[in-house]
Amino acid sequence: MDHFEIRNGVLHAEDVPLTEIAATVGTPVYVYSRATLTRHARVFRDALAPLARSHIAFAVKSNPNLAVLKLLAAEGYGADVVSAGEMDRAMAAGMTPESIIFSGVGKTRRELVRALEAGIGQFNLESEEEGVELAALAAERGLSAGAALRVNPDVDAGTHGKISTGKAENKFGVPYDRAGGIYARLAALRGLQMRALAVHIGSQLQSLAPLESAFVRMGALMREIRAAGHAVSHMDLGGGVGVPYKAGEEFPSPEAYGAMVARVTADWDATLMFEPGRVITGNSGILVTEVVRVKPGVTCPFVIVDAAMNDLARPALYDAWHDFVAVRPSGERMLANIVGPICESSDTFAMGRDIDVVQAGDLAAFRTAGAYGATMANTYNSRALVPEVMVDGARWAVVADRIEPAAILAAEHVPDWLE
Ligand code: LLP
Repeated sequence: MDHFEIRNGVLHAEDVPLTEIAATVGTPVYVYSRATLTRHARVFRDALAPLARSHIAFAVKSNPNLAVLKLLAAEGYGADVVSAGEMDRAMAAGMTPESIIFSGVGKTRRELVRALEAGIGQFNLESEEEGVELAALAAERGLSAGAALRVNPDVDAGTHGKISTGKAENKFGVPYDRAGGIYARLAALRGLQMRALAVHIGSQLQSLAPLESAFVRMGALMREIRAAGHAVSHMDLGGGVGVPYKAGEEFPSPEAYGAMVARVTADWDATLMFEPGRVITGNSGILVTEVVRVKPGVTCPFVIVDAAMNDLARPALYDAWHDFVAVRPSGERMLANIVGPICESSDTFAMGRDIDVVQAGDLAAFRTAGAYGATMANTYNSRALVPEVMVDGARWAVVADRIEPAAILAAEHVPDWLE
């Protein structure tokens, strides 16, 4: 459920026609709906309400825009961050350090120190080596870092290979069989306060079954570690709940997810932590683009739009599907290849897709672009960095400027020995 719909023949974000935003800000532009974000944040939170003790840390990587983080902070969300940059954003949005989880497989020494000094609530350790290093850094400063050990449960998430993280061969976490020993050794170190196990098996999961097997395995491990005399007061169950990208696709609801978690964890007696990203932001955003021109192709025409793989990388990276709709649909349909202007064939959003008829100058939108959209944008082909807008009822604001190629050029320097 979202707040992007056709009214009087024009696609609106809440009460704002997208034609108005495109005319003022230009295209391509990401547009987020405040009402949709708020709704998703509340639905997810309500789905977890039956749990005795829980903490939701929004996966900042899915949409780090400051206005988005601010909105989620006001909804009681903490943050799951994977860099000092994301940590700074979360705190700039008003999230407290204690509500922040620092994840990531390659936190640098500098980042660990900064996060320690900021008082970050939980470090999700990805290896024994990282734990030893963090313990030493904390002890030197007379601090004790709350920490979780991320475990690789060797469960196939059944999602795209590039966004699977829970198979033994993936780089994430420590092997399940070694986790008990590592936890015990880390728990003995001054400077670390081991309190949790963490798991995240992948993103865009279409089924709850792999999550459930992973959680069951984590519960067994938790009991083993407790039986060995160590405290495990928290369990971090990660993110990963998928969202429909194609109209009509069926996905487990947040309620079904919450019910599964409640059932599996009923006797855990632990504070449960969650790191949702896409399920909160995915359907809350779209990417508005203008058709540059339409040119004939072998089997069907190429619709060339002014958005490209640098603005929305998911189709090029993961063969991801994003629904493509005209902002003023005529009701007629055509088969087309939707491509961007970048000079490589991976800059393709769809091949042989049944879409609204569009022609040069028409506006269109890629749906479900609120997660892993703007944040993965880059400036390839010396294109601008795409701007972001948030709509709230009948009002709207630019929440991230378009960074023009000239600004990027201005940050480059020619050494005098090349002059
Ligand atoms: N926690 C951890 C440790 C993660 O690595 C991730 C995502 C999340 C939580 C949030 O997962 P979510 O609830 O959003 O599924 N760029 C890819 C997705 C990469 C996900 C990376 N990790 C895409 O566009 O599909």
